[in-house]
Amino acid sequence: MNDMTPTSAERAAKLEGMGCKRKRVEDIRFVQGKGNYVDDLNLPGMLYGDLVRSPHAHARVKKIDTAKAAAVPGVVAVITAETLKTVNLAWMPTLAGDVQMVLADGKVLFQNQEVAFVIAESREAAADAVELVEVEYEALPCNVDPLKAMTDGAPMIREDLKDKTDGAHGKRKHYNHIFSWQAGDKAAADAAFQKADVTIREMIVYPRCHPCPLETCQCVASFDKIKGELTLWGTFQAPHVIRTVGSLISKIPEHKIHVIAPDIGGGFGNKVGAYSGYICAIVASIVTGRPVKWTEDRIENLSTTAFARDFYMDMEIAATRDGRVTGMRCYTIADHGAFDACANATKWPAGLFSIISGSYDFPAAYCLVDGVYTNKAPGGVAYRCSFRVTEAAYCIERAMDIMAQKLGIDPAEFRLKNLIRREQFPYTSAFGWQYDSGDYHTAMNKAMESMNYKKLRAEQKAKREAFKRGETRELMGIGVAFFTEIVGAGPSRACDILGIAMFDSAEIRIHPTGSGICRLGTKSQGQGHETTYAQIIATELGIPADSITVEEGNTDTAPYGLGTYGSRSTPVSGAATAMACRKIKAKAQMIAAYMLEVHDDDLEWDVDRFRVKGNPERFKTMTELAWAAYHEVPPGMEPGLEAINYYDPPNFTYPFGAYISVVDVDVDTGTVKVRRFYALDDCGTRINPMIIEGQIHGGLTEAFGIAMGQELHYDADGNITTASFMDYFLPTAVETPHWETDWTTTPSPHHPIGAKGVGESPNVGGVPCFSNAVNDAFAFLGSTHIQMPHDNWRTWTAADKLGLHA
Ligand code: CDP
Repeated sequence: MNDMTPTSAERAAKLEGMGCKRKRVEDIRFVQGKGNYVDDLNLPGMLYGDLVRSPHAHARVKKIDTAKAAAVPGVVAVITAETLKTVNLAWMPTLAGDVQMVLADGKVLFQNQEVAFVIAESREAAADAVELVEVEYEALPCNVDPLKAMTDGAPMIREDLKDKTDGAHGKRKHYNHIFSWQAGDKAAADAAFQKADVTIREMIVYPRCHPCPLETCQCVASFDKIKGELTLWGTFQAPHVIRTVGSLISKIPEHKIHVIAPDIGGGFGNKVGAYSGYICAIVASIVTGRPVKWTEDRIENLSTTAFARDFYMDMEIAATRDGRVTGMRCYTIADHGAFDACANATKWPAGLFSIISGSYDFPAAYCLVDGVYTNKAPGGVAYRCSFRVTEAAYCIERAMDIMAQKLGIDPAEFRLKNLIRREQFPYTSAFGWQYDSGDYHTAMNKAMESMNYKKLRAEQKAKREAFKRGETRELMGIGVAFFTEIVGAGPSRACDILGIAMFDSAEIRIHPTGSGICRLGTKSQGQGHETTYAQIIATELGIPADSITVEEGNTDTAPYGLGTYGSRSTPVSGAATAMACRKIKAKAQMIAAYMLEVHDDDLEWDVDRFRVKGNPERFKTMTELAWAAYHEVPPGMEPGLEAINYYDPPNFTYPFGAYISVVDVDVDTGTVKVRRFYALDDCGTRINPMIIEGQIHGGLTEAFGIAMGQELHYDADGNITTASFMDYFLPTAVETPHWETDWTTTPSPHHPIGAKGVGESPNVGGVPCFSNAVNDAFAFLGSTHIQMPHDNWRTWTAADKLGLHA
């Protein structure tokens, strides 16, 4: 070795492996407008589909006359439920075990429901013909209020289920009831409330909102009649699941279906399930023998595709007078709309909602969720959240503030008193979840010190006094939130989708010259997977990240996987990637031992090579070993250097975070100005700190949108009043606050590289932090809970109710 020989650290730095702020490789094409999205695909002879939609929220469909539409020049066919019945596709199964109309069959159950599908030579001709499909409706009374869904005389939404007495988890309580699901120990929780010094109870509503990805849902279906094969390009977060479900529905053998998800412009859960447009495009391609493209517009996306939240949570907490929580109970009504098309693991109709005890050491807890049908669009997806964790985190974090207020304890101090302590990990919650690792007090204390929390409270005290003296009309609010996530669905013993166990996979091939390709069952929608999976491989195998191609989204080439949602890519496929690398490394070690004429055990790994223990001058680099794998393997060993791993995680991972925000509220206008927002996240081992920061910024911006203005609102007649970005608040750079980010690192003990997911954490923690800040501004005036979203009008109204405009 001479002075010019790079050190291990220098060689490691060149790999751009884990921990490196590697620039996103996918951005080279994105920033140049060279991405390859579904709408970029134009096949020879391609037709275009467009949907006729119902103006009514609830109506009988008396007659559909397609004659005028069919006569429009360029129109090839118009499909209705009657057409679909001939191929047994008028209804389709949902991910939640319900069935859903593909096109209106006898009734429509929500506004903008799909009624007919026009197929034409051009997008314009299809759109013109949609206007000419004549549908005769008989309007019916409708209900969009989930709290009235199970009352006597409520309109019956699902006549097709009227004789169905059992739901997914027991007896149906009412004809609009979908399921009841409970967790925890009711008797223990009731006993805690009987003994409690102090209790609080509040109806906490998480309104219906929408993931609204920038790219709407779309597909191109191309059926090859000669081969009997279907190729389906689409905005799919879970391509393999679409292939399996597509095969089960269409009866086309699964090996004859090719699903390709090219670049996707945001998903956030919205692109997990199957929509009528996909089924209609497939049928249209089978019928016409030509490729058919279906592209949704913004109004269709906002008003008909999978929404999020819509949880009505009646929350109670019990505590001792000195501020120790002793019990919690929560009864929730979940509005699933007209069909139960919620995207959850099958066993969990309310998702992972029972993480509702949050980050606190509750000795007893119980929750019960009833799902109901209403005249709203179906869905209920994990919008940047792991199956209802966001609802749970919002509920517990609001409730903790309400209890702190009642006890007269500072909300941060109250949390510190009740956070699970480091020495309690692995911690089993009252709901039975096994939190893998955490150091909550360090995170909370770091957040408080970074924000100079005590000084902020002192400033707030002075401002409150000035407000009382009439010297200012501004109130200062400090929001504190601590959240625990549960991500990485999932252990197959706990999670499946329609019977398919939730694992994930990675296949890695190292080429003779030492570069390679990794194919995965996940699918990035902007998270930067092409960059970060390569970093895991770089560290594990000592191959530069730039020498690895990462490929996702093609069911013909990728091993079977369950897709990307619920921050599962890193906990599950990240682990699969590391494990596949370790198989490759084990083989490389045997080749190295053979080449160096030593025993395997005499070798040690050093960044990018195996070297002889005690004799570091004798080594074989991974590049040399890759070459050898194709021409110099030990006798009896198969040539080649590749491996596949299907990873079934032993547990979820539990990322966490401590967030603090400061807002100033103008009581006369209801304007809320966000002065500061600090987010400390702990996602275990950090693969790419720059991408993590980007994920946090994006998620916080979404949280800001949700907390401060988003609601998919319906009027009493079931008209959706927020179906465009004129009415539905989507924050731009103008409104978005400045974000301050920070971290601690507590690796997951069961993940091969110690990493936990991070993508959804900022949405989970951000929403309660904003809401707590606005509520905190008013708390000293006796206000306990102001419902989200905290737009100017609602904030002004809250001030008005407190008599501040008298
Ligand atoms: O499943 P999804 O990709 O949405 O979520 P994720 O697993 O939380 O990963 C989001 C992005 O953050 C990916 O590019 C990950 O590689 C990256 N990440 C990271 O760099 N370090 C972590 N500990 C977790 C995620």
